[in-house]
Amino acid sequence: VNNSKEQKTVLSGTYRNQTIDVTNQPGLGKLTVSTVSTHPIDGQKPGTSGLRKKTKVFMENNYLNNFVQSTFDALPAKDLIGGTLVVSGDGRYFNKEAIQIIIKMAVASGVDRIWVGQNGLLSTPAISAVIREREGGAVAFGAFILTASHNPGGIHEDFGIKYNCENGGPAPEKVTDEIYHNTKAITSYKIAHDFPHVDVTRVGATAVKSDDGSRTVVVEVFDAAEDHVDLLKTIFDFKAIKSLISREDFSFVYDCMSGVQGPYARRVFIEELGAPESSLINAVPLEDFGGHHADPNLTYATELTHIMGVDAKGMPIHGQSHKVPSFGAACDGDADRNMILGSRFFVTPSDSLAVIAANANVIPFFRKKGGLRGVARSMPTSGAVDLVAKKLGISLFEVPTGWKFFGNLMDSKEVYGKEDYTPFICGEESFGTGSNHIREKDGMWAVLSWLSILAAKNTPGQPLVGVEDIVVNHWKTYGRNYYCRYDYEGVDKVAAEKMMAAMASAKKAGETLNGFTVKFNDEFTYHDPVDGSISRNQGIRFIFTDGSRIIFRLSGTGVAGATIRMYIEKYEPATGNLAQSAAEALRPLIDAGLALSALQSYTGRSEPTVIT
Ligand code: G6P
Ligand code: ZN
Repeated sequence: VNNSKEQKTVLSGTYRNQTIDVTNQPGLGKLTVSTVSTHPIDGQKPGTSGLRKKTKVFMENNYLNNFVQSTFDALPAKDLIGGTLVVSGDGRYFNKEAIQIIIKMAVASGVDRIWVGQNGLLSTPAISAVIREREGGAVAFGAFILTASHNPGGIHEDFGIKYNCENGGPAPEKVTDEIYHNTKAITSYKIAHDFPHVDVTRVGATAVKSDDGSRTVVVEVFDAAEDHVDLLKTIFDFKAIKSLISREDFSFVYDCMSGVQGPYARRVFIEELGAPESSLINAVPLEDFGGHHADPNLTYATELTHIMGVDAKGMPIHGQSHKVPSFGAACDGDADRNMILGSRFFVTPSDSLAVIAANANVIPFFRKKGGLRGVARSMPTSGAVDLVAKKLGISLFEVPTGWKFFGNLMDSKEVYGKEDYTPFICGEESFGTGSNHIREKDGMWAVLSWLSILAAKNTPGQPLVGVEDIVVNHWKTYGRNYYCRYDYEGVDKVAAEKMMAAMASAKKAGETLNGFTVKFNDEFTYHDPVDGSISRNQGIRFIFTDGSRIIFRLSGTGVAGATIRMYIEKYEPATGNLAQSAAEALRPLIDAGLALSALQSYTGRSEPTVIT
């Protein structure tokens, strides 16, 4: 519903104090710019990963238009004018309409080339690859990614938009702060109403010329998978993976959860690696993700966990009538997250990161320049990868939650190396893993990393070495960081904030709970070693004398109410008891966390919504 006043004009002569000559002319025809008046809308502050709201909110009252204009207004005119912009999304409801609006607004802001994945689909990692690699790289100045990641899609569910910069990574805080600032002051947006509707179903270029011939805008629709798959082929040894997949005793299932990954998975696994069709499930993108929560974890990826013989606590299910595959994986709606499973075996994201780091040298990308140079994890992620970094003698960084914090490290030569090519792996407990091949986490990369490790550990003619063997051997070398996360979703926001504030001011050092003595407690503050910026209030930590940790955070990606996350970690040395279930090993510590936070009395919740 657009009830705002509208005046047809050509773009006026100045834009953020710079003169624009391209559009300030009569006779622009289809490229004529309208200036539409609008009003600031509350709450357009981008969260951990862009702006997410109910789909209907995005569809009404210029909500999308305001945010897009505020983003353009935060970018330097030299990038925008005559520049190339990428626009695509994870295929959720309103994706297609939003793309057409953004194309028209980009044209009005001076963008001359717009790149769109076929059917408007590009996964988050693929967008990062397109920005960095397409046409030799450094062509596009940025991208709008239309996704709310793993949040459900549909007219009654969630929509989202996120801006990524020319390095291929999420916009840093100084940019998102400026976007937010602009949303609070916006009075109008610019749009080229008469720009034709672009058929995104067909690969090809549409060129639109102004009547006076002074300007041409080109929209290119391209195969969504090509750039990303080409890049992956330079990273991994596809031949080695292909021979693993062809083993008679090896089988795998990849659950694309009806998100954007389907077409990529088909290209990689069926066309390139020769896997049977039956190895992919939910591989057709749907606007509502089939009504599911497209989040690869033990609570939501239950079709896969059932096939793999793993229960909701990550424990084995025995006695199922079907044959359990050797390897299983799932990804989220926009395909940046991943979950890894073996036969009746769940790999925690923190362990997955550590195992990939420890075995990175089986992957050509890392082997090429003398091996892995550094690793990074988010603060709540377990310290399993720290032990690998120590053993390998490589740098380790601990950053706040949010992939954008890794980007600075990856782009910096000073921090961990002087060369342009700096093999680097990052990961988060929230099912995100990736490397510096792009500036987003990459679900496909994680799966291909695991298949590479499996390929390297197996010898033709010998019995299959599986995921569980690899992880258990890892524990026998480094010890095991028992880990789990409790989520309390849809909690009253005021209550959640009160609980956090009480913990932030509590002094617990020296107190003993269930046999665990608090060494110190604090709020995590990050000092970015690259640009010197400081990020405060990044989670409450209780660190115990034996190295165990309990961490509390409020989610930055929720849409309604607050989500409290409690992260629990306990280290067991290699000589200790490695064979417990996480639930039993962590029980006393979980109880300590519930006591420290008084969670139940603040929130009224006695059970978490999700355990991962
Ligand atoms: C997104 C980001 C991740 C981050 C996660 C945290 O997925 O891309 O980098 O770890 O959100 O979400 P939370 O809900 O815990 O703020
Ligand atoms: Zn995602």
